[in-house]
Amino acid sequence: MLTLRLGTDKNSILKAAEILKDGGIVAIPTETVYGLAASSYNELAIKNVFLAKGRPQDNPLIVHIADIKELKYIAEDIPEEAYIAAEKFWPGPFTMILKRKNTIPATVSAGLDTVAVRMPSHKVARDIIAYSGLSLAAPSANTSGKPSPTKAEYVLEDLDGKIDAVVMGEDSEVGVESTVISLAVNPPRLLRPGAVTAEQLKEIFPDLVVDKAVLAEPEKGEQVASPGMKYKHYAPKTETFLVEGSDEEFIGYVNKKRDIVAICFEEESFKITVPKMVYGSEDNEATLAHSIFSLLREADKSGAKEIYVHAPSKSGVGLAVYNRLIRAAGFKVINL
Ligand code: TXA
Ligand code: MG
Repeated sequence: MLTLRLGTDKNSILKAAEILKDGGIVAIPTETVYGLAASSYNELAIKNVFLAKGRPQDNPLIVHIADIKELKYIAEDIPEEAYIAAEKFWPGPFTMILKRKNTIPATVSAGLDTVAVRMPSHKVARDIIAYSGLSLAAPSANTSGKPSPTKAEYVLEDLDGKIDAVVMGEDSEVGVESTVISLAVNPPRLLRPGAVTAEQLKEIFPDLVVDKAVLAEPEKGEQVASPGMKYKHYAPKTETFLVEGSDEEFIGYVNKKRDIVAICFEEESFKITVPKMVYGSEDNEATLAHSIFSLLREADKSGAKEIYVHAPSKSGVGLAVYNRLIRAAGFKVINL
C-alpha cells in the first residue's frame, strides 16, 4: 500500500477526515505522541489498526473525541467525577475508562465492557476528529513494543506502506502517552501515569489508587487492570538499563563502561566521558518526558551495545517517564 504524506493545512485535514470516513487508517499528530486513527464505529478499520501495529488482540484502544457532547454516545453510567475531571483536564493528555456503550464495537475495547476516552488538545487532531464527524480509536502509531513515535518520521520508520496516510505535523510536545485512569472501578485507579499527574488527580479523586503495575513487573499469568501494562513495551532493540543513584554515582558508573550510550541529565552531562545523550533537566521532568522516546530510538541507531538511562524522580511527570523507562529496560534496574 502507498502511504500518503499529508500536511497540516485545511485541505490535508479534510483529506485525512475523508480517508477515515471511508474506513482507512491515518496516523495523526497529538500533543502526547502520534496516534494511528480509525473510525471507532468501523470494525474492519479497527482490525486493520491492530494488524498494522502487530498489536496483541487483547490490548484495547483509546477513543478520541473533539467535543464533550460525544461522551454520552460512547460511555454509560458516567459518574459525576468524570465530568469534573473532564472540565479540569480536557482537552489534554488525560484518558478515562468508563462503562462502554454498545454503539462502540467490542473490538475497540478488545472485548472488555469498558471504554477508554480522551479529548486531545492538539489543534490538528481535533480538526480531523471534528471534520470526520466520528470518534477515532487511536493507539500510538508505532509498531507494537517499540517506543511511541514523537515525530512523523518515526511513524514512517514503523508503518510506511502499512497505513493509508500520515499527517506530517510537528514533534509531539508532551512526549509520553496520556494519563489513563479507570472510573469503572471503585476506588478510581491510575493505570498509566502521564502529564496529568497523580498529585493533580488526587485533588479530584482523593482515594485514587496507583495500580501496582505502574512501577512493578506483573507476575507471570497475573491479571492486570490495563492489558497494555503486561507487555514489554517502549523497548529499543539494544539492551537497556535504568540506573538509580545520585549524579556523582551515575557519572562514576557509566564512565567505566565501554561501547555504551548514557542517557543523562544536563546537570551531569559535562562530566560524562562516554558517548551520551542529554534528555533534559533533572529538575524539570517535562523536559525528560518530551525527549525520552526519541532518544531511545536514536540510541538504538547509535551502534552502542547497551543503553544506560539515569532514572528520573518518581514525582510529577517523572512518574510517567520512570514507568516507560522501566518497561524499556525490561525491568532491569541498577541501584547504585
Ligand atoms: O496519549 C495517548 O493516549 C496516545 C495518543 C495517540 O492519544 N494513545 C495511546 O494509545 O497511548 P495506546 O493504545 O498506545 O495505549 C492505550 C493504553 C493501553 O495501555 C491500553 O491497555 C489501555 O490504554 N486501555 C485502553 N482501553 C482500556 C480499557 N477499556 N481498560 C483498561 N485499559 C485500557
Ligand atoms: Mg502504545
